Amino acid sequence: MPERLVIFDTTLRDGEQSPGCSMHVEEKLKMARQLDRLGVDVIEAGFPIASRGDFEAVQLIAREVRRPIIAGLARAKKEDVECLAKALAPAARSRIHIVLATSDLHLEHKLKISRAQAMDQSISAVRLAKSLCDDVEFSPEDATRSDPDFLCRMLEAVIEAGATTVNIPDTVGYTLPQEFSALIKRIRDEVRGIEKATISVHCHDDLGLAVANSLAGIEAGARQVECTMNGIGERAGNAALEELVMAMHVRSDRLRFTTGVQTDEIFASSTLLSEIVRCWPQPNKAIVGRNAFAHEAGIHQHGMMTNPLCYEIMTPESVGVAGTKLVLGKHSGRHALSRRLEELGHPLHGPELDRLYGQFTELADRKKSIYDQDLLSLVAQTDSKRLMDIATA
Ligand code: KIV
Ligand code: ZN
Repeated sequence: MPERLVIFDTTLRDGEQSPGCSMHVEEKLKMARQLDRLGVDVIEAGFPIASRGDFEAVQLIAREVRRPIIAGLARAKKEDVECLAKALAPAARSRIHIVLATSDLHLEHKLKISRAQAMDQSISAVRLAKSLCDDVEFSPEDATRSDPDFLCRMLEAVIEAGATTVNIPDTVGYTLPQEFSALIKRIRDEVRGIEKATISVHCHDDLGLAVANSLAGIEAGARQVECTMNGIGERAGNAALEELVMAMHVRSDRLRFTTGVQTDEIFASSTLLSEIVRCWPQPNKAIVGRNAFAHEAGIHQHGMMTNPLCYEIMTPESVGVAGTKLVLGKHSGRHALSRRLEELGHPLHGPELDRLYGQFTELADRKKSIYDQDLLSLVAQTDSKRLMDIATA
């Protein structure tokens, strides 16, 4: 029986930290409603101590979006935790998410505190959070560059203090899949009391490994994954929700997990986010890029026309995309051209099709994209040549 994985969406918190992607309160609410339709389990709505706008956004989402758990972020500080608890107060179900770094690099240079101080601060913050909310998550920031022994002791301490989820962030996207999987396994094996908490993973994409690392973490025992729509987030972004979910769908033979995500809402969620932040995924972005279901090469187009399984491992409809696109360009073949001409109401066969195909490839060598208008003018040229031939015959 496949196990159920918790999808923790942080588009509205970590995603919003992506340069140029900040959102107004109303925009955040609109996106949160779409994430609810998408079926995520947890929505991290913001970081309320950071600004009045974020406080209002978390509060509004907590009031209006009733099915998912609404989470917010707080540093391990009294004022942060209290501010977050206040913003989350209207929620049907809420979660306080506390972060404090555990790597010596961050402790010495950023926070300027000792390991012992970090431990005390985390325990106090989790205890306070627990007195305000049953559901408490703790993230040891920069976990993958932390001393694993200290990391494990920290996790034991925060679980003892009441944390119900322990999230392992690869904050700077530094880890490799095998290392990350070994770390999650070590946490499972070594941390006393780990059975009382859910292990979560939170991977950044600085080396393009966020999704691979997340999947490695899940295979090693994590049961919550943190991700964002379109993979937006700090620097190179976070693990992309659409890639994680579709990997689990397409490769359910190996990845035996289910999620609550309605996959046919993926494209609508991606598009809404792009419209709000005015930043579109690159064309070749997996699942949601505009070329994700487009085929140009002749052999691919022919294969697609014969049986889409030749070149598509999922249907566009399964992620809410209207259909496959056969793009006409210099790599396209006669089959695709003939089909498009037929769709445009100009079926051509035999020598006429051959002649037009020749003109089409010449044009495609000069032009990057061939539009219907280009084809129609080639057809018009063929028609006038045919009339001339008849007249001079
Ligand atoms: O990347 C990170 O470490 C974070 C934490 C707040 C989980 O975003
Ligand atoms: Zn992050």
